[in-house]
Parts: sequence; structure tokens; C-alpha cells
Amino acid sequence: MEKRLYNFAAGPSAIPEEVLKRAQAEMLCYPGAGCGVMEMSHRSAAFGRIRDGAEESLRRLMDIPDDYAVLFLQGGASMQFSMVPMNLAARGQKTAYIVSGHFAKKAFEEAGRWGEAVCAASSEGDGFSFIPEPGPGAVPPDAAYLHITGNNTIFGTCFSELPDTGGVPLAADWSSAILGRRIDVRRHALIYAGAQKNLGPAGLTLVIVRKDAVRQDIDPVVPTMLRYAPQIKADSMYNTPPCWSIYMAGLMFEWVEAQGGVAEMERRNLEKAALLYGTIDSSKLFENRVPARDRSVTNVVFTLPTAELTEKFAAACAEAGIINIKGHRLTGGFRASIYNGVGLEAVRALAGVMERFEKEEGR
Ligand SMILES: Cc1ncc(COP(=O)(O)O)c(C=O)c1O
Repeated sequence: MEKRLYNFAAGPSAIPEEVLKRAQAEMLCYPGAGCGVMEMSHRSAAFGRIRDGAEESLRRLMDIPDDYAVLFLQGGASMQFSMVPMNLAARGQKTAYIVSGHFAKKAFEEAGRWGEAVCAASSEGDGFSFIPEPGPGAVPPDAAYLHITGNNTIFGTCFSELPDTGGVPLAADWSSAILGRRIDVRRHALIYAGAQKNLGPAGLTLVIVRKDAVRQDIDPVVPTMLRYAPQIKADSMYNTPPCWSIYMAGLMFEWVEAQGGVAEMERRNLEKAALLYGTIDSSKLFENRVPARDRSVTNVVFTLPTAELTEKFAAACAEAGIINIKGHRLTGGFRASIYNGVGLEAVRALAGVMERFEKEEGR
């Protein structure tokens, strides 16, 4: 096998080796099934156990109450930008959004196609460099929900506290922090997340929704596949689900449980993030402009002062076996995504390269 490198990809991203090895061992023949997971019917007893097991494990990990449905869907987090307003807001009803990044803005724009989406707060004018707070009265009291993007993957910012919604239900995109930190499900009407960061490979979108928040009087124009109700009724098997991705997510959930649960993931992520932010803050070369309170624990962004140094540092990373560290095309610079699948040793390796670079550049 070729050497696996230190992978800091923002998504799809690193998966723990134990999980990959288990999938490898079971790929040709899932125990007791006589075939692999990719080859079995989604209606089979074996797949039923895989699906149910994944849901039960996630319910334990996130302490999800019984009045919430857990859905394993497709279409990415981006499909939820449309499904959330269609299912939670009546046609024409106001919705409110905190526009804290690129994906938050996309979600806001999609909601605007459905009804009146109100921007309750935005940091766009400052390049999405911090988490904005809604001022008094900014969230309309009759809004169907207030939407937040819990962690802004591109800009490396994160809500350290949930915003005061003034009693309006909260809907959140937790794609890049789910299972990486503790999230109080009870404070949300809905949570969604693309799987390809902390939950396994791409192809699966997780939705956790309080059942009574889902509108039953939905506009007839909404296609069946964009409604939560039929998927809730069919245990996410209204049609063929993303079987392999659900299986992989189940293995990830089991792995997180075996490591000590979400609290332990949070502890490890804080340790990894502290190492990188500490290195950045004590440096005269590397810079992160996010206010300490809003710094993401899963996506650490940083820049260097010149294009020449940026290129040189990228080469130093490549030399050290560090991959997928370049910042998003919107921001440039660098981004270390340090999700659950990225071990402390990878982060130490990166911090080591940064420290050596600092010394060599003579500052
Ligand atoms: C916070 C956040 N929301 C939404 C998305 C879009 O996800 P998808 O590609 O699954 O539609 C991303 C993708 O990286 C993301 O980071």
C-alpha cells in the first residue's frame, strides 16, 4: 500500500484508519450476508440492522430525544438549503438567517426563493471574518425559524454559543462540526449536516428534526422527494437510500462511541486546535484574524504576508507529507481541517513544519 499522508482536507476528509480497515475487511462479504454492503438490497434484514444500528448509535452519541426524527438523505447539505424552508415555513412565511459565510449566504438565498428570508445579521461586509449577532428586533417574532451555519468551514469561524432566537425555533447547518463538539439537540428544531467531514464519505446528508416542527400542510407544489414527512414515515427508505454511506457513517458512530463519545472528540479537537492557534499566535509570520471567541475548532485558517512565502510554505508542507492544506479559493492562504479523523500526530507534524518555517525565514 502507498503511504497515507497527513490529510487536512475540508471535506471529503480524513477517515480514521480503524474505520477504513473495518470497511475493507467487510467489503467483500458483510458478516452473515453472503455479499458486500454495496451489493445488498436496502430492504434486506442485514441492511435493516445496519441502518437501525447507525441511528441508535447516533441517538446515544448526541442524546437525541424520541420526539426527533433522524433522517439519512441525499442531495448534500445544499439540498437542505431548499428543504428546510419548504418543510418548516408556510408558503410566504418569513424565515430569518444569520449570514456568517459562503454556505450561510447560499442557504439564505435559497430560502428567498420560497418566501421572505430576512437577514438577521451578516458579517459579509467584513469578509465573513467573525460571527455576527442579531441586534434587538432583528429576528422577526413570526419567523418560522432562525437559521445559522454553526461552523463556517471556509472562513474558520464558529458559534461558540447558540444565538438568542427570542423564542423562534432554531435550524442549524452543523456540517463541519457535528460530532466534533457537543451540540444540544433540544435547543434546535432542526439540525442538518453533510456527511463528508465528520460522518464518513460523501453521499449522505443527516437531518435531525423535531417531528412537530415539520409542517403537514405543505404546499402541493413541493416534490415528494423534498418533503421530510414521507422520509420520516419510511425510516429514510422512501426510495433507495445511500446504503454504503449509511454503513460508513454507522462505523464512524461506533468508532466515536469506542473513543469515549462526543465529549472526548471535543476534548481532542480543542487540543489540536490549541496547538495550531498557539503556533499562529506566537508567530510573526502566520496570521489568523478571527476573534478568539469565534475561532473554529475544526477549520483553522491562516495566511502568510506575501505570495512568495505562501508558495514556499505550501512547498514545505508537500515536502513533509502534508496534503489538502490550501485555503478555499475564496480566501486563499491555508486551512487545516482537523476533524475527528485527523489525529494529534498529524497536527503536531503541521505545527512542526510551521515552527521550522518561522525559524528558517529568520523572524
Ligand atoms: C457548512 C457547510 N454547509 C454546506 C456545505 C455544502 O455541502 P454539500 O456539498 O454537501 O452540499 C458545506 C460544504 O463544504 C459546508 O461546509
